[in-house]
Amino acid sequence: MRSRKDMIHQASPNLALIKYWGKMDHRLNLPMNASLSVPLGDFWTRVSIWKSHEDGWKGDLSRFTLDAKERILTFFALVRSQYPELPPVAGTCQSNFPPGCGIASSAAFYAALSAAVLDVINIREPSVIARVARLGSGSATRSVHPNGWTAWLPGGTYDSVGYILEDCVLPVNWYDYALVFDIKHKKIPSREGHRMMDESPIRDSRIKNANRRFLEACHAIQKTDWETLCKIVHEETLEFTGMLQGHSQMRDYHNAQSQEALSKLNTLFTTQPHLKPWTYTIDAGSTVHVLGEEAVVENVISLLKSKPVETLTSRIYGGLLRVRSLTEPDMVLY
Ligand code: PMV
Repeated sequence: MRSRKDMIHQASPNLALIKYWGKMDHRLNLPMNASLSVPLGDFWTRVSIWKSHEDGWKGDLSRFTLDAKERILTFFALVRSQYPELPPVAGTCQSNFPPGCGIASSAAFYAALSAAVLDVINIREPSVIARVARLGSGSATRSVHPNGWTAWLPGGTYDSVGYILEDCVLPVNWYDYALVFDIKHKKIPSREGHRMMDESPIRDSRIKNANRRFLEACHAIQKTDWETLCKIVHEETLEFTGMLQGHSQMRDYHNAQSQEALSKLNTLFTTQPHLKPWTYTIDAGSTVHVLGEEAVVENVISLLKSKPVETLTSRIYGGLLRVRSLTEPDMVLY
């Protein structure tokens, strides 16, 4: 019989095209505006959880935040406060992409962790996993759904979760090129970025703009009108970048190289409308994401002067997936 250490739960990061940035409720992680994302299925985080004599974590977390272990143990306690039948557990994880540099590592991690922890007490409903994952990292609620556009509505209550846009297809043969300009873990966690919106003078207009773009993007997706979608994402990227740049601490997410790339991408986007649809976005981190068909994205990237320290690619597909074997493929692990 397999032991629980052989059970792995895997989730992928999701890339928000309309960003969740700012909360209605910081304790419950309820978003201030609607958000929309695609899955990056070639990137994954795998988590194993087993019953133990006390809560713990095995393995090196030095690539993560300084308080990573503490946060995981707090998360176990939080889950136990809702599900007292959860026994003491320990776990371990690995990923095939670097954490904390703008590839939504916490979304993948908390989606996989929630699935794994709840599985110990035989809870497997995606809506419960998505709700618990949200408490670890808001955007993780969008990483629980397989293979589709995932939306998450503003406000809500304790049960708020991401959901799949029914009858909507992902663009075929699209890739995300994640241009990593700084491989080190970001110094400012996104929870501080969310807090920044509480007092922001543009809070109301941000909510209005993001919600409007969300609806426009949903319409474009329903019509598979990728050109319009790309324009909406471009507009969102400009606003999001502006919000980060306008803040003394958030500005540090980007270095001279990534800023140069962003400025060049903006120029290319606005001056070369004849190129096939492509777009670009950033998260809270130094990575710049360029999306579209492979040849189109390669062409765009070849025009950039600043060179990333690493370029990671994922198809736009896939999502949470449960696997049962520990046999690891031969690849770089972070
Ligand atoms: O889930 P959090 O608290 O790490 O926030 C994620 C925020 C962004 O990645 C910047 C945007 C998003 O919607 O994923």
